[in-house]
Amino acid sequence: MDSKKIDYLARLWIMEAAAKIKQSFKETLDIDTKSGRNDLVTNMDKDTEAFFVQQIKENFPEHRLFGEEGMADSVTDLTGVVWILDPIDGTLNFVEQQRDFAISLAVYEDGAGKLAYIYDVVRDELYFAERGKGATVNGKTIPKINPDIELQDALLIANLSVTRKFPTMWEAVKVSRGLRLHGAASLEYMDVATGRAGAYLSANLEPWDIAAGKIIVEELGGIVTRINGEKMNLLEKGTSIVAAPKIHQTLLNNYLP
Ligand code: IPD
Ligand code: CA
Ligand code: CA
Repeated sequence: MDSKKIDYLARLWIMEAAAKIKQSFKETLDIDTKSGRNDLVTNMDKDTEAFFVQQIKENFPEHRLFGEEGMADSVTDLTGVVWILDPIDGTLNFVEQQRDFAISLAVYEDGAGKLAYIYDVVRDELYFAERGKGATVNGKTIPKINPDIELQDALLIANLSVTRKFPTMWEAVKVSRGLRLHGAASLEYMDVATGRAGAYLSANLEPWDIAAGKIIVEELGGIVTRINGEKMNLLEKGTSIVAAPKIHQTLLNNYLP
């Protein structure tokens, strides 16, 4: 694949989409619910996904794309070049707080993560990684995740679905420096990528929540698996643990089934 062309255009599209999202702060959103009253979708989620679908189809007709709002291809395998998009990750934050949400975009080739973009729209922070070439935020190199950091020296991020399903996680929280949660999986992955947290656990993430975050974290030496330690299949919904290496091992060995 032509990584240079993809990178050039992906950045342009992300900035254009983000400008429209920021503009929408001044407008009334059209809000619908999906699976429940807190599972929201707005006109901006849909418009953003439609914009990427149109651009990718126009510029890379041989590539496939799937995203949260289901406007693109129905993808059942990862052969060839596949883009994975969450047009707004953290929609509830977008609606309620107008912060702590991101555009998350990943490019996979034959199942391998190649390029990843997570744009924190309000903080104006673009996290980026190209497989084998390191990761940056706004062009500045992100240092590797500390391979030696231990649970007692790090903050933990976990959503309630995790502590409800695995109550022993409360013991891990007590050992750690404390518990945090923003409500946008892609940005929580970036907390682990940048060392702001030692681990993030969720019981229920979709491929588009993690596709870009996984590439960036792994590029920095972090570990991403299911909560039972198994490898991720990026076409399936499921649990996720992303962590610094020692913390990943400690959580799996001592606090999770
Ligand atoms: C959600 C956020 C949230 C996570 C949910 C996701 P959305 O994504 O990432 O942090 O806990 O599981 O569905 O719906 O706002 O794109
Ligand atoms: Ca999401
Ligand atoms: Ca979303």
